[in-house]
Amino acid sequence: MTTLTGQPQWQQLTELAKSVKQTHMRDLFANDSQRAESMQAEACGIFLDYSKNRVTDEVMTSLFDLARAQGLEEARERMFSGAPINKTEQRSVLHTALRNLSNRPVKLDGEDVMPEIQATLDKMRDFTQSIHNQTHTGYTGKPIKHVVAIGIGGSFLGPKIMTEALKPYRSEAVQVHFVANVDGCHIHDVLSALDHEETLIVMSSKSFSTQETLQNTVSAKQWFLAAGGSQSDIAQHFVAVSSNVSAATEFGITEDNIFPMWDWVGGRYSLWSAIGLPICLALGYDNFHRLLKGAHQMDEHFSSAPLEQNLPVIMAMLGVWYRNFFDAQSHVLLPYYHYLRGLPAYVQQLDMESNGKRTTLAGETVNYETGPIIWGSEGTNGQHSFHQLIHQGTSIIPADFMLPLNVPNQNDTHHAMLASNCFGQTQALMQGKTFDECYADLANETDEERRSELAAHKTMPGNKPSNTLLFNELDPETLGALVALYEHKVFVQGVIWDVNSFDQWGVELGKQLGNEVLDGIQGNAQPDQFDLSTSQLIDKFRRANSID
Ligand code: F6P
Repeated sequence: MTTLTGQPQWQQLTELAKSVKQTHMRDLFANDSQRAESMQAEACGIFLDYSKNRVTDEVMTSLFDLARAQGLEEARERMFSGAPINKTEQRSVLHTALRNLSNRPVKLDGEDVMPEIQATLDKMRDFTQSIHNQTHTGYTGKPIKHVVAIGIGGSFLGPKIMTEALKPYRSEAVQVHFVANVDGCHIHDVLSALDHEETLIVMSSKSFSTQETLQNTVSAKQWFLAAGGSQSDIAQHFVAVSSNVSAATEFGITEDNIFPMWDWVGGRYSLWSAIGLPICLALGYDNFHRLLKGAHQMDEHFSSAPLEQNLPVIMAMLGVWYRNFFDAQSHVLLPYYHYLRGLPAYVQQLDMESNGKRTTLAGETVNYETGPIIWGSEGTNGQHSFHQLIHQGTSIIPADFMLPLNVPNQNDTHHAMLASNCFGQTQALMQGKTFDECYADLANETDEERRSELAAHKTMPGNKPSNTLLFNELDPETLGALVALYEHKVFVQGVIWDVNSFDQWGVELGKQLGNEVLDGIQGNAQPDQFDLSTSQLIDKFRRANSID
């Protein structure tokens, strides 16, 4: 296979970038009255305006050609059909099967995986209903009022952020709390406010070996027993979600209380599996199903729409354009909707854990940039903080703005202000403000030197790229589609960069060394096991905590 930088389209894009860098988007708009209308796409209730990007039709054509040359269409087909595309872990990547609401079978090694997915969904539905209608109670007969969901990474971010984003759809039956960090402050704060007789613990760990989740569950068990529950009452108060059923039963969770998942679901793609149980408990099963439906619709769009109208492909290729031809280091997500404020953190794991890679599928070190830094927060808050750097700093930071056109329970003035800020920011980033415009504004300044100096400080270069994503309202279907859109965007970029988007070896090393350091802190390490700096830190910790 030709390497990425050896593709003729890559060479062409390199040349195009030279001329586009000399062009201002103000001129692109001025010279093409159709630009806004032609640079837009819509699917699954999501409208994308990408006209405020530093691209021409020629650039877009070359980007789509590059995607074809890198085998995107074949790779997409291989993912959906269950080929073992997670090469290093020799696994299929079938999160799309979890939301496959068509009647099409999905075969893995000749076997249809859909029946076991459906059986798990049924189990999630029945369990959720039994909690909500109070047929499943706590051991003293009190209804379950609180759910504490323990998990980290993909076993935390998806459930937490979807539950938060769909606040207007929440069930009154239970309140769901999330605990991820091994920092004991978190679990302490959550549990100390709860009545153990009314609390259900959902422990989510695909591997059932993640230190933080195991420790937090041990602490929850101790809390439950210390508060008066007995060992035999645990079955009514503890359930687990895991692909490692034997480890979960060994830990003391009864088999009936284990919701299965599979090794062909990556952690950061797992909210659609039983890892989504806390979402069901918070919103009711029907709303969880609507989430799956929206994601499925985006899967259908991604797998069938021509690349030129394909939302994930357009967004992915724009990202490649800035990352590889403009040297953009980061990409910012700016949801203008309070309930969607967690999305940047969700996409951060999805994107950075997937494409933060430096080795091609063939095992070579890449000679180009791969995944960007993903960051962001809710608008308008960022406007009064980090937007300054996006407007006038020296880096180029492509942005995704997103806004629901309608919001529940809100007065019109707030929402109109929110929308105007969102659109106004994209406009300011695109057009900027020239020195002459700033100078003219300062007509009252009589000191000529000060006038020029101030005008220079106020000048905004503009030409800063952004996408704007609009949707009617953030209902479960739209949220499902939005999350699937980002999943597929990440997939497309992984194909372009020829990396495995589905492993995470860097994270694994951190886990291993963390465990070794814990041995060191507990006095079980070999002499000279650690470098001098790490030994010094361990010693300081041991002294401060009187460990000898
Ligand atoms: O931190 C790495 C990671 O493996 C993530 O990919 C995963 O989502 C998270 O840990 C939690 O893993 P598990 O669900 O196995 O506890």
